[in-house]
Amino acid sequence: MRIAVPKETSAGERRVALVPESCKKLMQAGYDIAIEGSAGEAAGFLDAEYRDLGVSVAPDPAALLGSGDLVLKVTAPAAAGRDEAGWMRPGTIYLGSLMPLRNLEAVRALAARKITAFSTDAIPRTTRAQAMDTLSSMANIGGYKGVLLAAVELPKYFPMLMTAAGMVRPAKVFVIGAGVAGLQAIATARRLGANVVATDVRPEVKEQIESVGAKYVGIELKESAAAGGGYAKELSDDDRRRQSELLAQECAQSDVVITTALIGGVFAPRLISGDTVKTMKPGSVIVDLGADGGGNCELSTPGETVYVGGVAIMAPLNLPATMPYHASLLFSRNLTAFIQAFTKDKAFQLDFNDDIQQGALITHDGEVKHARTREALQQAGL
Ligand code: NAI
Repeated sequence: MRIAVPKETSAGERRVALVPESCKKLMQAGYDIAIEGSAGEAAGFLDAEYRDLGVSVAPDPAALLGSGDLVLKVTAPAAAGRDEAGWMRPGTIYLGSLMPLRNLEAVRALAARKITAFSTDAIPRTTRAQAMDTLSSMANIGGYKGVLLAAVELPKYFPMLMTAAGMVRPAKVFVIGAGVAGLQAIATARRLGANVVATDVRPEVKEQIESVGAKYVGIELKESAAAGGGYAKELSDDDRRRQSELLAQECAQSDVVITTALIGGVFAPRLISGDTVKTMKPGSVIVDLGADGGGNCELSTPGETVYVGGVAIMAPLNLPATMPYHASLLFSRNLTAFIQAFTKDKAFQLDFNDDIQQGALITHDGEVKHARTREALQQAGL
């Protein structure tokens, strides 16, 4: 069976879906691998490294995709300038972080081409699937990099310092949303010496926040916001009002606010209003890690940094692509774990009775199989 790996071509994307370490494992499992020329270059993996392992380096992406039984990508198939879905043969398996709810047109193209598409961000959150979870690997990088961006922008030190010129107080960092990205943001801010306070709406998170060295703050919710599988749902109107008072109070006292909140792992709830930003100290920094999902702060402009009343509001997009070496390495290990779990007799076996394949399956045989994506397509009239 042939695995084909095209180069990622979306703006600013520097990751590659398969690194040489994983090629070695998959070749041992019986796969033949071909990769587009210079696909790994921006992440630090040169064509020669792949060639040395016996991977074919292909110059023509259309021929490459047409030859693959399994196509591995970081993002959804490209449409601008390349018809990646159209280049694949019907029946080809696509595996990558499709983010189907954010890429409805790509889902339609994959279904029309009769591609069997698995999205790693839709796999169930079970112990068996943990090694395949690209969402967690990438969120971890987002949380880490988000704090570094804040530290560079902040006109203050993060740590407490005793200097000959006197004592400097540590920065106060407030983290909103303590899932994978939020917990990594807390740990990174603590390593830099800041005082960290954090909040979330899922009850089990208080202990996790404390275990990485932050103080938990939160309101007593009247209605549960846990949606199962580690995901959160929207708060009731009453809970939302009480939470926004708490958030406003904490933001006003903080030097740095890092927001990571998502609903259902996809869309960012609006948690910081323009009025709250106005109460913040000049020089303070908001890093809105919910920007890819629309933004947690009302004043965020996704992809940009804006300044309002002396407060920097940073809303970086696709932070994992800014750390492409480790992002690619971890992403590639996640895809490899997925493939290895379903390889028998040197070939990938479709098994839609398996809970992981069932959860991750988006399109098959011309149909959209993923219920939430089907609903979203209907709502969008696609
Ligand atoms: P996420 O990216 O969907 O959301 C980020 C965080 O925002 C969550 O902790 C959520 O509760 C929080 N949030 C949502 N609305 C909020 C609000 N109004 N105010 C404050 N916080 C809000 O979640 P993520 O990071 O992908 O995963 C969350 C949890 O799921 C993890 O901590 C982990 O326990 C579990 N998980 C389990 C996996 C497995 O077992 N295979 C894999 C991935 C995650």
